[in-house]
Amino acid sequence: MAGDSLLVKDSRTGKEITLPIIQGTDGPPVVDIAQISKQLGLFTIDPGFRSTASCQSKITFIDGDKGVLLYRGYPIDQLAEKSNFLEVCYLLARGELPNREQFLEYERIVTDHTMVHEQLLNSFKGYRRDAHPMAIMVGVVGALSAFYHDSLDIHNPRHREISEFRLIAKIPTIAAASYKYSIGQPFIYPKNELSYTENFLRMLFKVPTEKFEMSPVLIKAMDQIFILHADHEQNASTSTVRLAGSSQANPFAAISAGIGALWGPAHGGANEAVLKMLNEIGDVSHVPEYIKRAKDPNDPFRLMGFGHRVYKNYDPRATVLKQACHDVLNELGQQNSPLFKLALELERIATEDEYFVEKKLYPNVDFYSGIIQSAIGIPENMFTVIFSVARTVGWITQWSEMISGGEAIGRPRQLYTGAPRRDYVSIENRS
Ligand code: SDX
Repeated sequence: MAGDSLLVKDSRTGKEITLPIIQGTDGPPVVDIAQISKQLGLFTIDPGFRSTASCQSKITFIDGDKGVLLYRGYPIDQLAEKSNFLEVCYLLARGELPNREQFLEYERIVTDHTMVHEQLLNSFKGYRRDAHPMAIMVGVVGALSAFYHDSLDIHNPRHREISEFRLIAKIPTIAAASYKYSIGQPFIYPKNELSYTENFLRMLFKVPTEKFEMSPVLIKAMDQIFILHADHEQNASTSTVRLAGSSQANPFAAISAGIGALWGPAHGGANEAVLKMLNEIGDVSHVPEYIKRAKDPNDPFRLMGFGHRVYKNYDPRATVLKQACHDVLNELGQQNSPLFKLALELERIATEDEYFVEKKLYPNVDFYSGIIQSAIGIPENMFTVIFSVARTVGWITQWSEMISGGEAIGRPRQLYTGAPRRDYVSIENRS
C-alpha cells in the first residue's frame, strides 16, 4: 500500500530509519534501500542477487511459484500457441499487440534490414573454421558498431529504434552465417519473401545446389522456440546488457556482452549441456546413477535443464516445448526417438524424487529445446546461438527501457575483506 515502510534499527547506534515499501503491478513488493548508506552508513550485500531487484520494468513478469510468464501482460502459452515471433517482437518492443497494418509495416522494416554489410561477412574469415559459433557471435555482433556510425547516439530515440530494427533483422543472418562458416559452406543470403523464421531456417540449411523446403510443423516449432526465449526479466545476460549499456556504450557492444553471458552452461549454454548429458547417460537404465550423482553435494554434476533461480514450479516454457518436441518427432517419424524417451523418463524419475521435489527442481526451458533442435538438424554448438537470436529482442527492449528511463551507471559497492593498510617493503627486506 502507498506509505508502507520497513523500520530498520541499527543495534550498534540505536538509530532507526524507515525505508519505503513499493508494490508493483504483481509479484513481491520491494524495499527501496537507496537511503540506507546515507542515513546509516551501511551497504547491503546479496551475491547472486537472490533477494535483490536491480530495476523497475514493464516488459516481462514471472511468477516463479505459479510457473507463470507474461510478456507485456500476455501469458506465454497463449502467445506460443496463437502469435508468431515477429509479432511478439513488436509486442515486447512497443508494449502492445499490433493491428494488421502496424504488423505489416513492422515486418517490412525488419525485412528491409536482414542483409549485413559485405565487410562484416568478410570479418568471419578472421576466425578458425572450428571456432564455437558463440565465439563468432560475440565478435561479429560487437563489430556491428563499426558499421553504423549513423545511429550510435543512444539518447536519440530514432537511433535507438533503428538499432532495434537492425539487431532484430540481422541477428538471424549473422547466426546462420556463423554456422555456415563453421561447416565450410557458402553464406546464404536472406530471402525476404519468407517469414522471419523460415528465412532463418533457409539461411541455415540451404545449399546453392539444392532447393530448400521445410515442413510447416518444424518452422512452427522453431518460431515457438524463438517466442519462448525472447525475454525473461533480469536474467544474467539481460542484467549484463543493462550494466554494459548503463555506461552509455552503444547497443551493439552491450548486446555482444549479453551474448557472452548467455554462453555459460548455467544459463543459455544449458540446452547444449542437456544434449551432452543425455548422450552421456545413454540409456534409461543409467538414469538412477545420474540422479544419485545430481543429489550428491560432493559431485559437481547437475541435472542440466533442471532447476531455476525463479521458477519453483514447472517452467511454463518447458510445457510448451515438451508438446512441440512431441509434434516435431511425430512429423519426422521419430516418435520412438531414444533421446526423447530418455528425457521423458529422466523427467518422470526426477520429478518424483524427494530431493528434486523438496528443492523444487523442475525441467526448465532448456530441457526440451535441444531435443527439438537436434531433430530439426541443428547441431548442439548452435543451440545457444539460437537462444541469442531469440533473446536479442528482449535485450534491446530492456536496454532501450533503461536508456529512455535515464538510469545512472550501474556501479555496485562491496564488502572488503582483504589486507588492512600496510606500507611498501623493498625487495631486499622481504623474506
Ligand atoms: C536459463 O534466469 C533466467 O531466467 C535464465 C533463463 C532465461 O530464460 O534467461 O531461464 C534461462 O538459464 C535456464 C537455466 C538453465 N540452467 C540449467 O539448466 C543448469 C542446471 N541448473 C542449475 O545450474 C541451477 O538450477 C540454476 C543455475 C539454473 C539455478 O541456480 P540457483 O538459483 O543458484 O539455485 P541453486 O544452485 O542455489 O540450487 C538450489 C539447490 C542447491 O542445493 P543446496 O545447495 O541447497 O543443497 O538445488 C540444487 C543445488 O545444488 N540444484 C540442483 C540443480 N539445480 C539446483 N541439483 C541438481 N541438479 C540441478 N540441475
